[in-house]
Amino acid sequence: MTRQEIRTILTAPSADALFKEAQAVRLQTKGTGVFLRGLIELSSICLRDCLYCGMRHSNANVRRYALTDDEIVACAALAQTLHFGTVVLQAGENERLWTRERVAHLIHRIKVETGQRVTLSLGERSEADTAAWREAGADRYLLRFETTDRALFAHIHPGAPTTGDHPRIAQLRRMKAQGYEIGSGIMLGIPGQTLDSLIEDLLTFQALQLDMVGLGPYLRHPETPLGQGDQDSEVPVSVDFTCRCYAVARLLLPSANIPSTTALSSLDPEAGRIRGLSSGANVFMPNLTPAYYREGYQIYPGKICVVAPQADSLSALHDTLHSLGLHHIEG
Ligand code: 5AD
Repeated sequence: MTRQEIRTILTAPSADALFKEAQAVRLQTKGTGVFLRGLIELSSICLRDCLYCGMRHSNANVRRYALTDDEIVACAALAQTLHFGTVVLQAGENERLWTRERVAHLIHRIKVETGQRVTLSLGERSEADTAAWREAGADRYLLRFETTDRALFAHIHPGAPTTGDHPRIAQLRRMKAQGYEIGSGIMLGIPGQTLDSLIEDLLTFQALQLDMVGLGPYLRHPETPLGQGDQDSEVPVSVDFTCRCYAVARLLLPSANIPSTTALSSLDPEAGRIRGLSSGANVFMPNLTPAYYREGYQIYPGKICVVAPQADSLSALHDTLHSLGLHHIEG
């Protein structure tokens, strides 16, 4: 797809034909199966100060917590019981808490004790760290590059370089060479983001040949610098626009795994996930973090818990899938 074609799709009055086409491609490449990946939010103790994120180091109003290794393995065991097949270990960036050795040991325990595949989402880390984790059995790594616009990236990530390679894109390339399946993505509607830069982001997904694409609306957090500012974005924050981007991602990368994200569900708890799964997405990530800790992981306000591990909310998710002609598959 050319830049102009993507621009036309994103700005057309209606996207019904686009959603239909994306669904057809998704059916062809992925069938009617939906993967459920158990999200485990390891810790809210973050050393970074990203301007958009409620969990940033400078926000004194966050309940900071860190799960123990036994708690994490127990969450993975729950994923096994629920036939998920994969867990995603995500944490605020903290190389002191999540050392190379500790994470390697955790990966090993999860594999041996629960048989779940392991996706890591621990932020920017060294080549030696990700190599050690791959060796310990990690299968996939998620690292959103957030934006290809270097000035915007540096503005919202204090301390990030403005010249040379984009640090996150460089890490994604390294991890691909290490044998990881790699996932990346962006927020839609960050103040200062332009339609042109968004189109560049989408084309970069394709250039990187991503295995997974995570896209969600940017949701203002009042206790962050960006959330308090009044700067706008050319990119709309809406369910419709987010779904258009899922559909474009599906057309650009027909075989990718594309989750309907928590941020989309938080924007519209009623219809978000249905709309996401109807526009090319084929993955859903139920939150398996113990309920007691969840409020500590508020990267944006109104973040919904999506699915508590209780059987009733999972069966509601299964009902949703069936109503769309889809079904849960393990993987
Ligand atoms: N709104 C939406 N998404 C956010 N993220 C962080 N803060 C916000 C926010 N305020 C996303 C980022 C990050 C992922 C873990 O959560 O894209 O990579």
